[in-house]
Amino acid sequence: MTVSLEHLRRCHFAVDLGAARTRVYVKGAGLVVDQPSVAAVNTRSGALIAVGEFAERMTGRTPGYIRVVRPVSGGTVVDIEMAQRMLRHLLGDRCRRALRRKPRLRAAACTPYDADPLARRATIETLVGLGARKVVLVDTLIAAAVGCGLPVARPEASMIMVCGAAATQVAVLSLGSIVTAERIPVGGEAVDHAIVQHLRHAHRLMLPTQSVRPLQLALSGAGLTPHGPKSTEIHGRDVVTGLPRSIRVDTASVRDAIRTPLTSVLDGIGKVLRDCPPDLVADLADRGITMVGGSALLPGFDQLLRQATGMPVHIAERPDVCAAEGLGAMLEGRIEPLLLAPLAA
Ligand SMILES: Nc1ncnc2c1ncn2[C@@H]1O[C@H](COP(=O)(O)OP(=O)(O)OP(=O)(O)O)[C@@H](O)[C@H]1O
Ligand SMILES: [Mg+2]
Repeated sequence: MTVSLEHLRRCHFAVDLGAARTRVYVKGAGLVVDQPSVAAVNTRSGALIAVGEFAERMTGRTPGYIRVVRPVSGGTVVDIEMAQRMLRHLLGDRCRRALRRKPRLRAAACTPYDADPLARRATIETLVGLGARKVVLVDTLIAAAVGCGLPVARPEASMIMVCGAAATQVAVLSLGSIVTAERIPVGGEAVDHAIVQHLRHAHRLMLPTQSVRPLQLALSGAGLTPHGPKSTEIHGRDVVTGLPRSIRVDTASVRDAIRTPLTSVLDGIGKVLRDCPPDLVADLADRGITMVGGSALLPGFDQLLRQATGMPVHIAERPDVCAAEGLGAMLEGRIEPLLLAPLAA
């Protein structure tokens, strides 16, 4: 299906349902929701106990009758009913009432590049359950490129890399459309997993999932570059004895563990560039790559890309919300009038 800007301008709200975070942009009100895509459910009564930040904080800390669920996995809505309940709670009563007053509620949503028809259907069903009479789908790559202000509509190449939790999507865009693109199933989650596995194998330490971020921040001074602190202290549980233990880990070894999953991302970038017409590649030599998505903030990721490609690499100003802001800009009509080409969805 192709959608035009006109379709999008008629939408009342836009949703970016991500594997890690859910964002909702309401026309006229801006970004009203930016919360983890998590819900906590009472398994005895089926009642929803918490959503978003509160539910995320419960992960791994719940008694047996509370289950923490993620209705979006791998970039696809896997539990439509739970996703609807989560969205309703995240939106809150006031916002939902305001949306329900619209005579023919229309919604926009972004879908990952190359999403299969079932995944698209699941996104549409989720929003129809929220009361939308019509749902317009936009490719995440286009939404994110608009959100970070790339001149997507012009007849020149822009390269965007959306670094999400479940996947990394890379594309060359020109004249409002995708010229070549790749979706690599490696994102922030795979990086976190690599760190946890490394500590388990090298130090026999189980790291709570919620401690991965502080460890990344400890690395951030040095990032993936060979300068900075040589070691950092972390707390976890001994794999064998089960007792709490603190160790000093060598930052260089953690950096190596992070690099492994990122190699397939570099391969994906190479493939996109090889498939791209030479005229557009020439544009990219000075324009470079723009990184968006939460994992673009992974310390040193940009530098790794710079070394591997030899191209300039920029991180967007607010990388994590670019896709939602891009959808918002399309809803509000705040977009270059030149962009009249149908948006591939
Ligand atoms: N400061 C940071 N440093 C490193 N990683 C980060 C940082 N902030 C967020 N992330 C990572 O970014 C990811 C979330 O990014 P984002 O919000 O773009 O994902 P998403 O849109 O929910 O996922 P997807 O688009 O893959 O469905 C998480 O895996 C998180 O670990
Ligand atoms: Mg995303």
